[in-house]
Amino acid sequence: MNVLVTGHTRGLGRALADTYLAAGHRVFGLARGHVDGAPAALVQGHADFAAPAALGAAVDALLGDITLDLAFLNAGVLGPIAALRETSLDDIRHVMDVNVWANKTLLDALAARAPAPAQVVLISSGAGVRGNFGWGAYALSKATLNMLAQLYAHEFPHSHLCALAPGLVATAMQDTLAAKSAATFPSLARLHSARGTSRMPTPAIAAAHIASIVPRLVEHPSGSFVDVRERYPLPDDERSG
Ligand SMILES: NC(=O)c1ccc[n+]([C@@H]2O[C@H](COP(=O)([O-])OP(=O)(O)OC[C@H]3O[C@@H](n4cnc5c(N)ncnc54)[C@H](OP(=O)(O)O)[C@@H]3O)[C@@H](O)[C@H]2O)c1
Repeated sequence: MNVLVTGHTRGLGRALADTYLAAGHRVFGLARGHVDGAPAALVQGHADFAAPAALGAAVDALLGDITLDLAFLNAGVLGPIAALRETSLDDIRHVMDVNVWANKTLLDALAARAPAPAQVVLISSGAGVRGNFGWGAYALSKATLNMLAQLYAHEFPHSHLCALAPGLVATAMQDTLAAKSAATFPSLARLHSARGTSRMPTPAIAAAHIASIVPRLVEHPSGSFVDVRERYPLPDDERSG
């Protein structure tokens, strides 16, 4: 298979790329950074998702005339954890550009391909449905991403789209959240207590689990929001590597 992974340089995206490479697939990565010493089967492109308008050309240049089978729209930023009234419009716009409008531009480019990829997985978050205090820009962006998947499902008649919440994953994003106060933002207590436990698996474990459930996502209507923890909980014996 040919697999696109955005944000393939770190965290969950890096682990998804490694998982599909290890299974013998060709992976096309798009991010600002670069994976050094990557195997030939990892083809890397560079783009800053904070400038979404340029992304269509970047993904076309990266993919050329290959047929893409599967796309993970994974790149994302957390933005400020803060009261919404203390969050500037500029900060919200930045998070929306990276987490939403970049994916809108990528979906436009993918829809224009013949054929479009059979499956597109937009990496979402439970934050997009919970509305907990302090998650302002990020929650707005993931809620909009969920609707983006639902709306674009109408425009991808031959593809399956899914907005997938991966559950807690031990990445740099969680390191940032660990430094924020659970006294100020009570929803963080659950995340803080999960750190270093099997409730927050490594990226490698989370990515392997996601890869194992991707074929089953097509059982949901295209455009659905699916939370891995609710629909496909990680078996206890797979939680620690
Ligand atoms: N970790 C969790 O517990 C968790 C939970 C729910 C959902 N998620 C979602 O999972 C996805 C991956 O998160 P993660 O935890 O793996 O985060 P991460 O470790 O911070 O990695 C983020 C990735 O996104 C890329 N990226 C960030 N800003 C970018 C930009 N402006 N342009 C292009 N690429 C950019 C980064 O690549 P470069 O820096 O090289 O550009 C990096 O590869 C995100 O969508 C996140 O919202 C994570």
